[in-house]
Amino acid sequence: MSKFSILLLFMFIFVARAFRNPKMALSPNDPTSFSRPDLVAVTNVHFQLFVNFEKKILQGHVILDAERKKPTNSLILDVQNLTLKSITNCKDDSKLEYTVEETVSFGSKLRIKLPNVPESEDGKTRYQIKIQYETSPKAPALQWLDPEQTSGGKYPYLFSQCVAIHARSMLPCQDTPGLTSTYSAEITAPKWARVLMSALHNGTKDVDPFSKLSTFYQPVPIPSYLIAIAVGSLVSKRIGPRSSVWAEKELIDQSASEFSETETMLRTAEEICGPYVWGVYDILVLPPSFAFGGMENPGLTFASPSLLAGDHFLTSVIAHEISHSWSGNLVAIANFEHFWLKEGLTVFLQFKIIGRMFGEKVRHFYALMGLSELKDALKSLSPEFTKLIVNLDGIDSDYAISNVPYMKGHTFHFYLEKLLGGPKEFEPFLKSYFETFKYKSIVTTDWKDYLYKYFSNKTQLLDSVDWDAWLNKLGMPPVIPNYNTDLLNACINLAKRWLSWDENTASNFEKSDIANLTAQQKLQFLSELFADEAVLSVRKMEKMQEVYDVDSVQNAKIRFMWIRLALKSRWEPKVEEALDFVTKHGGMSLIRPIYRDLYDWQEMRQRAIENYMKTKDKMMFVTAQMIKKDLHLDYN
Ligand code: BES
Ligand code: ZN
Repeated sequence: MSKFSILLLFMFIFVARAFRNPKMALSPNDPTSFSRPDLVAVTNVHFQLFVNFEKKILQGHVILDAERKKPTNSLILDVQNLTLKSITNCKDDSKLEYTVEETVSFGSKLRIKLPNVPESEDGKTRYQIKIQYETSPKAPALQWLDPEQTSGGKYPYLFSQCVAIHARSMLPCQDTPGLTSTYSAEITAPKWARVLMSALHNGTKDVDPFSKLSTFYQPVPIPSYLIAIAVGSLVSKRIGPRSSVWAEKELIDQSASEFSETETMLRTAEEICGPYVWGVYDILVLPPSFAFGGMENPGLTFASPSLLAGDHFLTSVIAHEISHSWSGNLVAIANFEHFWLKEGLTVFLQFKIIGRMFGEKVRHFYALMGLSELKDALKSLSPEFTKLIVNLDGIDSDYAISNVPYMKGHTFHFYLEKLLGGPKEFEPFLKSYFETFKYKSIVTTDWKDYLYKYFSNKTQLLDSVDWDAWLNKLGMPPVIPNYNTDLLNACINLAKRWLSWDENTASNFEKSDIANLTAQQKLQFLSELFADEAVLSVRKMEKMQEVYDVDSVQNAKIRFMWIRLALKSRWEPKVEEALDFVTKHGGMSLIRPIYRDLYDWQEMRQRAIENYMKTKDKMMFVTAQMIKKDLHLDYN
């Protein structure tokens, strides 16, 4: 064969593969993004947007500052459901040609023809591009609530949720965490509303009798998924020297008291990780439809109202979100295949903070509770997603998010800390890791290489780690550390008593059985019963209610487990309560398992589906998608 025909053959194979494998058109570094920051990187986004509550859209423009990295004549961005009005070169207002190509389930590729720009004095080629656009009322990133979905019931509400890859439905952007940029914003909203963003607030002024303009800037470069906005009738209350809590006025006092430990948590995190770079640390308590326990938007954690348990029991979520100020936000991941690296390390930091505040035994107990949750989660996960590093080729990252990156990831860090000589060796490593990689986006190998570099005197120990098993194998972690079980034993023992009680004999259960248990232990007691192969009879459940009065507990996590246990026992009168619960709460970790349990109970399946159909329009996009899948309604 001549050289020419060999070349032709290779070209044919290359082109054929490109057609077969959609990834060829995607970013080489991120299978969930089209954008190419390796060619031209966006360095700042400036928003000028009007919040249109009538139409449920954002209208206006973004100005993107971008810098050329390699020879190219186009800027490639991600977009989803955006109406593009015009794209211009800011320098001379000239129109730029663009095309929207290759629409897949998670968006399209926007290719903008770059203008000819002379090199700057420093040898760099910079662009400033203005994109006039509108979002869609169905944008996955934006949750538009009618007044009746808020506590006050009087005003509408808007909040965003860009993780993992929804920012592209809020603005045209390089929607990969492999790229970080600063941002600034001018937001026009109705006068009654308060606008908050994941940025520093720079003042507000009236525009006309009905609207006002709020300005923000985020001087630290962040991935697109950390851009966040909330607009509603909000008030605030100071809870620390750098922290306020924001909520509708009906929830503000309760929120301030629930999150009163915030500053202690921040200080503890700084002791472990180094300086906090984001200035303020505020918390926004959202309406119930918020799909997560918490979300680490920089300087403004979004929190679910389900955390307001009245007993500070769920505030460990705040320790988690605070920890993201280093893990994930300061040191970003290059793409969501390495989600475990930020979430696993964040849980590890979260539990360390808990340990410092409440004792090492409590830290170990949290780790053990996490392992029970992991075991339960593994039952309903497809095998690929039980690995730490996942393959997201052609997969929407929302579907890959599970307990695995969190708890298997935590276990890996805990195991390494012990192996490498305990906290006195490992904590200085953490500080050095954050310092080394701050403002960068990394993958698992960068972290592993740095471990080897930092612990160069412990190479043998590191070589003893089965890296492949930890990172690439399915299921439970390959090693379970020797956690202290003191706090767990009380839960297990009480659960055993209930399991072994012969209902034909008199019971010897008393309210005092649980009097000395913490709220976490009560939860774990119920989890132990739930995880056991044996099913408690309805009679035993009724007895438990009679002795412990579980029904009167307000804590959402305990209610959640109690409902799951009741469904497992096929305790029919509790189904109504289960349906109420999934309607009232919005956190996916609270409502998805209950929907799945109801689905598995043949006779109740239809009721679960009907409840979903009735309420799905009030759910966040991602929640509705996930439950649709849980209820096997994907093809209807
Ligand atoms: N970053 C996550 C929330 C998230 C993950 C949003 C994936 C969208 C996609 C946040 O930090 C988180 O992990 N929240 C947890 C609570 C935490 C204590 C485990 C949650 O909301 O369940
Ligand atoms: Zn997290």
